[in-house]
Amino acid sequence: MPSAQPDIWTPFTLGGGTIQLKHRVVMAPLTRNLSPVTSLTSRPCSMCQYYSERATDGGLLISEATPVSIEASGMPGVPGTFTDEQLEGWKPITAAVRAKGGVFFAQLWHQGRNTSSALTGGRIVSSSTVPITDAQFGWRGLDPRPFEAPHALTVEEAQATQQDFVRAAERALEAGFDGVELHAANGYLFDQFQHSNINQRTDIYGGSIKNRNRFTLETVDQVVAAVGADRVGIRLAPFGMFNQARGEDRQAQWTMLCEALAGKGLAYVHLIEPRFDELQSEAEKLANLDANNPLTALDLSLRPYREALGSTPVIAAGNYNAANMNDGIGAEHDLVAFGRYFCSNEDLVERLRSGLPLWHYNRTRFYGPFPDNEIGYTVHPERKTHKPGERIQFEGESLSF
Ligand SMILES: Cc1cc2nc3c(=O)[nH]c(=O)nc-3n(C[C@H](O)[C@H](O)[C@H](O)COP(=O)(O)O)c2cc1C
Repeated sequence: MPSAQPDIWTPFTLGGGTIQLKHRVVMAPLTRNLSPVTSLTSRPCSMCQYYSERATDGGLLISEATPVSIEASGMPGVPGTFTDEQLEGWKPITAAVRAKGGVFFAQLWHQGRNTSSALTGGRIVSSSTVPITDAQFGWRGLDPRPFEAPHALTVEEAQATQQDFVRAAERALEAGFDGVELHAANGYLFDQFQHSNINQRTDIYGGSIKNRNRFTLETVDQVVAAVGADRVGIRLAPFGMFNQARGEDRQAQWTMLCEALAGKGLAYVHLIEPRFDELQSEAEKLANLDANNPLTALDLSLRPYREALGSTPVIAAGNYNAANMNDGIGAEHDLVAFGRYFCSNEDLVERLRSGLPLWHYNRTRFYGPFPDNEIGYTVHPERKTHKPGERIQFEGESLSF
């Protein structure tokens, strides 16, 4: 008899009912910057082994973020979904995942203002002309200038950008992906429309919560119309602070967004836990959501969004591990995405299932490119000298998350 209370090993059907999963461990999208860097339109290579090792029968994987156009690009070594060459590059990778029985969604990305004209080969764009002010661009030695002020997309240009997502989604499915996830988190283009501190517009895409959500919702509708709702997911970060995302009225804004998404029959909505941040540790992030911060008025949980989404499946991500992986399943969310542990454990699903300890991740190898790209990717030299479960201090580690 199946137990009434689902856990991470309970099968699950994504929204729309066409995709059946045999367990609820999801591989989170993980940018690794290991595609060839010789071309801005670099296509994927050497990634078959990496993804197929992480694929399991009936398990969902979400690809690293893939730019939908050259204007959407913001890093070297990132495989896109906008050229024929990239499409061909993805085909053996999706085939390798499918051969293992895996379900594979491509994450579709537009970095918006978080790039450099040296990388887009032209203008950089956003909702408004507000640049990132607290940092220089500088990515592995590229373009160390301060961030440039972006061009504010006109309504027509914004709608043309939505079509870039449509074309990328069609290409992704043609390349063998089972679906696409719109990357509407972490301060990138969708967030640049959603966050009131970035979006200064007074037209149909700004000035109110409804208008700030419009660009995202219209894009979802366009992509759904092209490939079907059961092939579309979306990632949101209601508590995100990365890339200077500091919008007000968050709970109202993301609740309305989720209410609007609820009726669309999407495969899933992917939510990032409040405790997780791209730069801060869990302790730092939670401390920053303290009494002096306007965010404190919020419910610091994913519950309001889960409620607003009704029966739409929810993936939760952020600081999950073997000890807490079953927390909230069925109540607060349906599936659990793992990021960092999937970097260091190609057999993560089996390790979690059998209770084996997990290899610690090497932060210095999260983002390439490197002369020896495979180290920390498909080859893990520390396994000769350490044991799984051991907290390893890798040389040169500085990131705290
Ligand atoms: C190396 C690395 C690359 C990442 N790349 C992406 C990405 O491309 N898209 C995205 O939405 N999140 C990205 N993230 C965030 C993860 O998907 C995930 O939300 C985060 O790591 C929290 O999950 P964890 O605690 O299980 O690692 C990345 C995280 C890491 C560590």
